[in-house]
This record gives sequence, structure tokens and C-alpha cells, in this order.
Amino acid sequence: MRSQIFLCLTELIREKFGKEKLDLILDASGLSDSKTYMRYFNGLDFSDEKFFDLVRNVCGILNITKDQAAEAFGEYWVCVYAPREYPQYFKNIKNAEDLLLKLDSIHQDVTANSPSHAEAALPPRFDVQRDGNILKVHYKSKRGMIDFYMGLVKGVGVYFSTPVEIQKISEEEVVIRFGTPNT
Ligand code: HEM
Repeated sequence: MRSQIFLCLTELIREKFGKEKLDLILDASGLSDSKTYMRYFNGLDFSDEKFFDLVRNVCGILNITKDQAAEAFGEYWVCVYAPREYPQYFKNIKNAEDLLLKLDSIHQDVTANSPSHAEAALPPRFDVQRDGNILKVHYKSKRGMIDFYMGLVKGVGVYFSTPVEIQKISEEEVVIRFGTPNT
């Protein structure tokens, strides 16, 4: 997968838990060599297995569950990292629902704009059906990261100050309910 996911996770750990914890996690994951880190910083793709190994070490060393890690990642990605690194995708977004409806095309676009990463960048696909204030989402990815999808949806709620309830139906389906934004 694209290295931005790895860079966002390491930035979040450094910011929220400190450099010492980050060093322990990188060490346990075989990533502590600064040359290795710089290669990812410069855009080298990150293997899916390495990412899952890193997440396991994050949970073990910070003593948090995978869902808690996914929620922390989702909030940081949507509220800090993506608006800074990809401001173009936030420009004409009106609200939480609007962003979730556009995610499929955003992820297609991010991949189309990086042909040299076409093999590693296999973006997730999202088929979204709207029914009143409910969205029924079919998530499709060979990586099976629905827990991260759920954490990211909660991050979208935080970004737009909108209460959001999310229910997992299966490893590929979720139902999302929006409340009224707290402005
Ligand atoms: C709006 C700005 C966003 C951008 C620019 C963006 C971009 C990306 C990129 C580049 C990847 C790596 C893809 C790859 O290597 O194949 C990724 C992965 C992912 N994104 Fe986003 N993303 C955004 C927001 C979101 C949001 C809000 C959600 C969910 C609500 C989401 C769900 C996911 C998931 C679940 C993955 C993990 C990979 C997978 O499931 O296969 N993204 N995103």
C-alpha cells in the first residue's frame, strides 16, 4: 500500500505518545533504521504485511485494542493528515455524508494520479446507497480493513462535528446513521 498510511500512523504515534514509544514500535517492527524510514518518506510503497505487523506492535506496546488503534488512526488521518497532504479532496465537500459518498472516486483518483505505484496502490472500493439519513456501504478490498474503515468514518464525524453511528453488518458491509451537526 502507499507509504502515506505508514507515515500518518508514525506521525500520530510521535505526536500523541512520544518519540520513545515510536522508537520501541519501529524497533519491534524492524523499521528503526533511519535509511529505511527515509525510503518510505520518499515514497517507497509499504507492504500490507508490514503494515499489519506494525499495527500489532502498536497495539502490544501501547496496550490498546485494534479497534482503538483504528479509531485513533481514522481521526488523525481525516482531521490532520489528509487535509494537510490532500487539501484538494476537501475543497468542495459540504458535510460528512458528502465526503463518504465521494470516497470511491477520491480513492480512484489518488491511484490514477500515481501510475508508478499502480501495483501497490489497490485502493479500496465503496458502493454507497443512501436511504434517508442512513448510508448502506459495501466496502471491497483484498486487505480486509473494515475496522479501519469504521475508525475513519468516526474521524469524518469528528471532522464535521456530526454525530455518527456505525454498525458492522459483515466484513464487507456497514450501516451509517448521521445526526445533526453540532455547530
Ligand atoms: C479524503 C481524503 C482521503 C484520501 C486522499 C485517501 C487516500 C488513501 C490512500 C492513498 C490509501 C492507500 C491506498 C492504497 O495504497 O491502495 C487509502 C487507504 C484507505 N482508505 Fe483512504 N483516503 C481518504 C479518506 C478516507 C476516508 C474518509 C475513509 C473511510 C471513511 C477511507 C478509507 C480507506 C481505507 C479503509 C483504506 C485502507 C486500504 C484498504 O482498505 O484497502 N479513506 N486512502
